[in-house]
Amino acid sequence: MGRAICMRFAAHGLVGVLDRNCDGARETVDLIGAAGGSAVALEADVADAASVDAAFERFEAMGGIPQMVVPCAGIERIGTVVDEPLEDWDLVMGVNAKGVYLTARAAFRRFVERRSGSFVAIASDAGVLGSSQYGVYCASKHAVVGLIRCLALDFGPLGIRSNVVCPYTIDTPMLDDFTARYGGEYGGQENSDFWADSVPLGRIGEADEVASVVDFLSSPAASYVNGSVYLVDGGANAGAYHR
Ligand SMILES: NC(=O)c1ccc[n+]([C@@H]2O[C@H](COP(=O)([O-])OP(=O)(O)OC[C@H]3O[C@@H](n4cnc5c(N)ncnc54)[C@H](O)[C@@H]3O)[C@@H](O)[C@H]2O)c1
Repeated sequence: MGRAICMRFAAHGLVGVLDRNCDGARETVDLIGAAGGSAVALEADVADAASVDAAFERFEAMGGIPQMVVPCAGIERIGTVVDEPLEDWDLVMGVNAKGVYLTARAAFRRFVERRSGSFVAIASDAGVLGSSQYGVYCASKHAVVGLIRCLALDFGPLGIRSNVVCPYTIDTPMLDDFTARYGGEYGGQENSDFWADSVPLGRIGEADEVASVVDFLSSPAASYVNGSVYLVDGGANAGAYHR
């Protein structure tokens, strides 16, 4: 999903691809280059304030202007409050919630100076609804939705827009990782069918289908959209669905 979003941004000037996995970021940079855009890889840990700040500074030193910022890094762990390792709380909250906060901190200082900017966070349907065995992940994504609403209120008066996209199951490496870790509990080898069966559209989503919503929200076409929560879920959360 991160890659698809960066590709969409290629038309808007220098793209900074921030990831703790520099090889993955470079792969995305190459794809953007091949598509005629220009991008730089910025190795950083979103859970670390100094690392995020330094990445923004490196981006600017290379001529980049952070004007559309999309915090997308995320990790997933499952379990209940009884059986999940305590470390999962710090780990997942650190990347998913604090990571968005630290990115906002760096981005909004710049946005305020320029009196413009767009911030579109990637949360999850787990940011608006509960999900069994997803307590920590849900808490982290609810935190993102709450933060975005506050950013919209605090900075809307300056013309700076903040929105959040909440995908359901999307075909990315995160889904592969989830299947490898927990597939036995969630549909086994047929994991993608398991998830597809819960979606009225009858399939899991593609990263580009999330990226196109981010692209819209970041663009002038969404000039009156601020503080919105966009589900991109094939209708999975529209109500009880029986196949
Ligand atoms: N794939 C899905 O089904 C799905 C569903 C709902 C929400 N999401 C959310 O979408 C976002 C993107 O996920 P994805 O599916 O592309 O997953 P992914 O695992 O393919 O990509 C996540 C990226 O985050 C990076 N990352 C992880 N920890 C980091 C850290 N501390 N600092 C910097 N980078 C870090 C990883 O290196 C990876 O490139 C996440 O926030 C995820 O929670 C995904």
